[in-house]
Amino acid sequence: MPTAAIVVDVVRLEEQMLLKALGEYMNVNMVNVRSRALEIGIDGFDAAVIRPISMYRAAYTAASFEAAGVFTVNSSQTIMTAGDKLLAYTQLAAARIPIPRSFYAADVDAALEAASRLGYPVVVKAPVGSWGRLVSRADTPEELEQLARMRQELPCSQTRSMIIQEYLDSGSSDIRCIVVAGTLLGCIKRVAQNGEWRSNVALGARTEVYKPDPVLEDITVRAAAAVKGFFVSIDVFEDDERGYLVNEVNGVPEFKGFYRATGINPARRLAEAILEELKH
Ligand SMILES: Nc1ncnc2c1ncn2[C@@H]1O[C@H](COP(=O)(O)OP(=O)(O)O)[C@@H](O)[C@H]1O
Ligand SMILES: [Mg+2]
Repeated sequence: MPTAAIVVDVVRLEEQMLLKALGEYMNVNMVNVRSRALEIGIDGFDAAVIRPISMYRAAYTAASFEAAGVFTVNSSQTIMTAGDKLLAYTQLAAARIPIPRSFYAADVDAALEAASRLGYPVVVKAPVGSWGRLVSRADTPEELEQLARMRQELPCSQTRSMIIQEYLDSGSSDIRCIVVAGTLLGCIKRVAQNGEWRSNVALGARTEVYKPDPVLEDITVRAAAAVKGFFVSIDVFEDDERGYLVNEVNGVPEFKGFYRATGINPARRLAEAILEELKH
């Protein structure tokens, strides 16, 4: 029987579901990276599911296991690319997957220049961050300048970097799709509530099941492939004129809300897909 590690920093419902699902096919160990150090290139697992909430913890864990030849979900490369919105957009754009119009702006003047090309309002994002925390909207050049200047005071060069993006009216709802081993499992729609324009569940959005059409299926499977993701969520906006636009890829996907809304258990599908992969 194969052995698998579930690597965590915090145990959420998702990790408990993974423990149960993988346990039906493999010997499973929960490894907490906050108390267990990983010796680079040496470890006795066949597979590792990487779950730390912190992106660097996740990426460094994955890299340590990969060096030992462990099949790692996701790979360190996928976690780094997906975890950095700017790098993710570059990979999606290179694969000709439609994304919102987005600019990289290194400083205040560049941010203003990008917005003058896009028109207002614009969305300002940091490459890293989740739950809507580093996503803001600027309605005027004055607002953008203030926001961009504030960003430049942040201590980390990653959060000083800005993505200036067109504001989409349809962005207050998005479709979250989960892809496992090249197959779309299903989708949910998240709709912002109570005057909030961001559709993060952490900001109070409600969720409902969404039935994907073949176009969405094709885009999400290609988006997963563009970041070489084995188990990823793909967040998509629906634009009236351009159709589906991929907004975000997550390399350590949360799936509690997805499971509640759809009844599909991604942990189980992942366990089966890993077992299949280990046979090769
Ligand atoms: N270009 C945009 N236009 C309109 N709304 C957006 C845009 N980008 C993001 N949003 C809204 O903000 C939310 C958070 O942005 P997102 O890029 O997903 O960052 P996070 O990683 O914090 O979730 C999205 O779910 C969406 O509702
Ligand atoms: Mg998001």
